[in-house]
Amino acid sequence: MKRRKFIQNASLSTLGVVATAAIVSCKTETETTAIVATSNDKVVKPLVIATWKTDLAVETAAEVLEKGGSALDAVEQGCRIEEANEKGQSVGKGGLPDRDGDVTLDACIMDEKGNYGAVLGVKNIKHVISVARKVMEDTPHVMLVGEGAEKFAVTKGFERENLLTEASKKAWENWKIKSEYKPIINIENHDTIGMLAIDKKGNISGACTTSGLAYKMAGRVGDSPIIGGGLFVDNEIGGASATGLGEEVLKTVGSFLIVELMRQGKSPQEACEEAIGRIVNKPGKDFKNFQVGYIAVNKKGETGAYSIHEWFSYNIYKDKENKNIKSDYFNKV
Ligand code: GLY
Repeated sequence: MKRRKFIQNASLSTLGVVATAAIVSCKTETETTAIVATSNDKVVKPLVIATWKTDLAVETAAEVLEKGGSALDAVEQGCRIEEANEKGQSVGKGGLPDRDGDVTLDACIMDEKGNYGAVLGVKNIKHVISVARKVMEDTPHVMLVGEGAEKFAVTKGFERENLLTEASKKAWENWKIKSEYKPIINIENHDTIGMLAIDKKGNISGACTTSGLAYKMAGRVGDSPIIGGGLFVDNEIGGASATGLGEEVLKTVGSFLIVELMRQGKSPQEACEEAIGRIVNKPGKDFKNFQVGYIAVNKKGETGAYSIHEWFSYNIYKDKENKNIKSDYFNKV
């Protein structure tokens, strides 16, 4: 008896493959088979997810992807928008300084091949995400710190500039009156942009950039530039990025944990929730005064986000729409 069999490549349905899959018919002695041609001609719907209300950054990254650009270019270009936004006081120019009044920036980037580059504690250079990419692509190293990173940036054509804006200087001067050192990520200001993207080839890359904790001790570095802390990407599985109090993310290697949980079969949402659980469920942990938020995406283009407190949101670009979404959260009491 003749039977019709449709062979569908699983990745076509799960990855949201569009347009170019061609249906071809071929007859065998016993059956007529519709084969979906896949191989090199598949196109994946671009996706971007980023921490906090980062509409313009995500739109910029999405534009790169829609034009056929790489996920790596998309996350770099997207993060540069926040680094140049002087009104944002937690990333790039205009970031709140350390307790000595110096703005120091941290950033890292990962591509689809598992390459990683980072800079830590950099002064006077605004686009540290691009410096991190140069470390990844133009040096045999993965991390440059402080003056060395700044010098390297200058050799690569980056211009030195004063990153302390009048507004951030005023905020620091006000803080100095009491000099209360409370490492709290506040409610209304966002902290750190972490961004993950999937390009039309289905490749995943990620980037993370920050001025770190406001009024931090000179030399303090958080999670954002640390592989597996503020960011981790494995192109076979997915990616994750973090925002919030970096010390708590680092102690649980949060982004790496999320990707590994996804490898074990958890959805991005389940993985983000478990990573937050690892922080808040530590015996005696007082999490009332700090925030941590995670975003994640898997190879199928499924996303997740979760935070400790309710004031975390993220932007997502999917199906040609860019939306800011309030994250689900742990502390509902
Ligand atoms: N998540 C940014 C920091 O702790 O520095």
